[in-house]
Amino acid sequence: MLSIEKNANLKPYNTFGLEVKANQLAICPDHESLLEIITYLHKNPTSYLILGGGSNLLFSKDFDGIIIHPTIKGIKVIKEDPKHIWIEAGAGENWDDLVAFCVNHNFYGLENLSYIPGNVGASPVQNIGAYGVEVKDCIEEVNGIYIEDATPFTMDNDECMFDYRYSIFKNELKNKVIITSVVYKLDKAGELNLSYGPVKDELFKKDERDLKTLRETIIEIRKSKLPEPSEIGNAGSFFKNPVVTKSQFDSLQKDFPQIPNYILSEDLIKIPAGWLIETSGWKGKSFGGAAVHEKQALVLINQNKAKAQDIINLANNIITDINNRFGITLEPEVNII
Ligand code: FAD
Ligand code: EPU
Repeated sequence: MLSIEKNANLKPYNTFGLEVKANQLAICPDHESLLEIITYLHKNPTSYLILGGGSNLLFSKDFDGIIIHPTIKGIKVIKEDPKHIWIEAGAGENWDDLVAFCVNHNFYGLENLSYIPGNVGASPVQNIGAYGVEVKDCIEEVNGIYIEDATPFTMDNDECMFDYRYSIFKNELKNKVIITSVVYKLDKAGELNLSYGPVKDELFKKDERDLKTLRETIIEIRKSKLPEPSEIGNAGSFFKNPVVTKSQFDSLQKDFPQIPNYILSEDLIKIPAGWLIETSGWKGKSFGGAAVHEKQALVLINQNKAKAQDIINLANNIITDINNRFGITLEPEVNII
């Protein structure tokens, strides 16, 4: 059943922990309640935002409109063959609960994405990724509703146009659809993905080399670098890692021979933004109540009752400085609302 809270406090709904409000917060636990809120929007056009766990958002001010918060639950096996299993999860399931479910059942595929905050419904939006895996590697299809005419849709993996921190839901379909569930195709047996060096090093210090131990290892690595949103407000990496051409990279490497890099293709190279920011002396620096995290320079934190503008000013100062030093324009990963 749809429930609407007026003049809602959004502090529990944004991991930056900012004190912001919305005119209305619509909690939608099922399809019917989503259709109800869509019908209401058709009759009373107003601004709206679809909100999952609020872990990739920065509210720049109070939200003048309706926040649509799908809380559709359910994790179920919908199909299997001798090698694979297809799991459908509701948009409102907590992401890491889904990963834990899969690991506990020995289904391979999502384990490297352990402990990423947020909900299932947002997992395809920016194609969440960590430690050598992107969720696109396991997504079979995405189900949802078009807001314009309230019709349902199912999109297969190709139609979602997944790329690094990108999908059709971040671009053409941004705020035009509500994702209601995602179907993941997982393996019943498989190899652990240890392509991300530090994961292999840490796992090999342990006695077991199974899915559960890999999940524990990933969680330990994440806890050693990334702040817990319940303790220090943040939204993970504030910027995307920039991708440059080979010729741009070659000229950067002449000036900065130690610059880390990942080769994506013959002509494209990804550079860790955390290195650019740390090398430029920003680690630990603060602006108002906002700061650059001491252990991971790509993460901006709400250090001391930050205002949204503190975080935005800090981000803008970093963008300008990195541009001046390296000729690279950092792009936010976080959605600024
Ligand atoms: P929200 O922040 O609520 O929303 C994000 C975007 O998705 C918004 O544009 C929103 O409108 C849209 N959206 C949400 N739900 C729906 C829906 N049902 N239908 C349509 N649109 C929707 N990300 C990574 O990729 N890798 C990481 O390793 C990682 N680490 C993180 C670590 C920390 C400590 C934190 C705080 C964040 C991290 N993130 C990471 C970012 C974040 O967790 C992910 O982007 C996550 O998928 C966001 O989920 P959410 O439910 O909180 O989405
Ligand atoms: N680095 C530094 N200083 C720092 C941070 C990083 O020099 O303060 C350099 C180091 O060379 C390090 C490299 O950057 O080896 C990579 O760092 P890390 O492994 O911490 O990963 P990242 O590139 O900073 C990306 C994702 C994270 C994801 C990790 C692990 C993006 C924007 N971020 O960070 O995702 O968890 O890899 O795979 O791609 C997120 O999207 O919110 C997020 C946390």
